[in-house]
Amino acid sequence: MDQLFIHIKSLVQIREPSVRFVGGKAMKELPTLENAYLVVKAGKIAAFGPMTDCPDHDGFKVIDATGKLLLPTWCDSHTHLVYAGDRSGEFVDRINGLSYAEIAERGGGILNSAKKLQQTTPSDLYRQSKNRLDAVMKMGTGALEIKSGYGLTPQAELKMLRVIQELKTNYALPIKATFLGAHALPPEYTSDTTAYLNLMIETVLPTIAKEALADYIDIFCETGYFSVADMEHLLAAGARYGLRPKVHVNQFTALGGIDAAVHHKALSVDHLEILRKEDLTALKGTTTIPVALPGCSFFLGIPYTPARQIIDAGLPLALASDYNPGSAPSGNMNFVMATACIKMQMTPEEAINAATLNGAYAMGLEQEVGSITIGKRANLILTQAINGYASLPYTFGEPLIDRVFINGKPLTD
Ligand code: NIG
Ligand code: FE
Repeated sequence: MDQLFIHIKSLVQIREPSVRFVGGKAMKELPTLENAYLVVKAGKIAAFGPMTDCPDHDGFKVIDATGKLLLPTWCDSHTHLVYAGDRSGEFVDRINGLSYAEIAERGGGILNSAKKLQQTTPSDLYRQSKNRLDAVMKMGTGALEIKSGYGLTPQAELKMLRVIQELKTNYALPIKATFLGAHALPPEYTSDTTAYLNLMIETVLPTIAKEALADYIDIFCETGYFSVADMEHLLAAGARYGLRPKVHVNQFTALGGIDAAVHHKALSVDHLEILRKEDLTALKGTTTIPVALPGCSFFLGIPYTPARQIIDAGLPLALASDYNPGSAPSGNMNFVMATACIKMQMTPEEAINAATLNGAYAMGLEQEVGSITIGKRANLILTQAINGYASLPYTFGEPLIDRVFINGKPLTD
């Protein structure tokens, strides 16, 4: 049955379909309509407007939104939600003084997660991942990207990608898959990065293409992981299989990966905790969007991505959770937005734009989700009765959600 939301206190993030993302000063604007109605037909947003123009209630399932806000669900464009077990032991090691790098040097970190994942059956991996997905959807995530990268063998990388594919099949929300075979170098390849990359290129990429297992390609371009030259080599191969890059760059060191990613037409460059002037220049006037991951900075105690510099330079910015066992074991997008406001001096308008429309753009879903736009999916958050949208980041970590709708259907417990 078609739905009619009535007496919406504030309908937030209303956009024309032509607006694919917002950058610079435009991020400070969050178009809203007070005292509004919204119609959902066949799972899509079909109409909205002021209550004075509300259609007759006949034939609709009516949802009274008095005192509540209605906004698009969060678009989380960077997650590693498919992983096995956890790394709470390393968390304690860090509290006791070890750094993220020291833990990785001892065989912990990504390699630790890879070992666990290699030993986990596909059905167990699916079950663990599904539980995380169910939890983040309840917190308002209505579209997301999920990466491989904890397999690090052809077989285990494909196992991860097939689990992501199974989630895509079984869930109604849009999911994008990213191949991150170049996340860390397995110990067997320590002295031969090129051999490892060629293994991924020659054995995994053809299968990915044959089974349509990935939408994007990623690499961890970082000191001690993969160089800019490695990145160029991998991205060129990915392009031959039609995979556009979304890359991990500038997390701990700036190596020039942003410039290279832009040349390879990356859809997004993610992390950017360490950012140089020339990196900002490289991004200007391009279709590559920067993505900040404040949950990672919070958890690891590393610098926050300089959002003000990025936005004040006229660039767009997206916010994502980076949900993963090592550097951000939470997919709570409310916390991500709140942290962006509290620690990165983003205004609530900027944070909401970054976590909805810009997040959708950062995973190629801006035609489907990310705003209140006629024809987009009715992936919606109905908040509790609250003061206004600034209450969302203000009550950090508290989603303040009454109900989440995916294609117009409320989530059930
Ligand atoms: O995005 N930086 C690389 N990858 C993940 C963390 C990986 C891990 O520690 O498991 C990230 O932060
Ligand atoms: Fe990541």
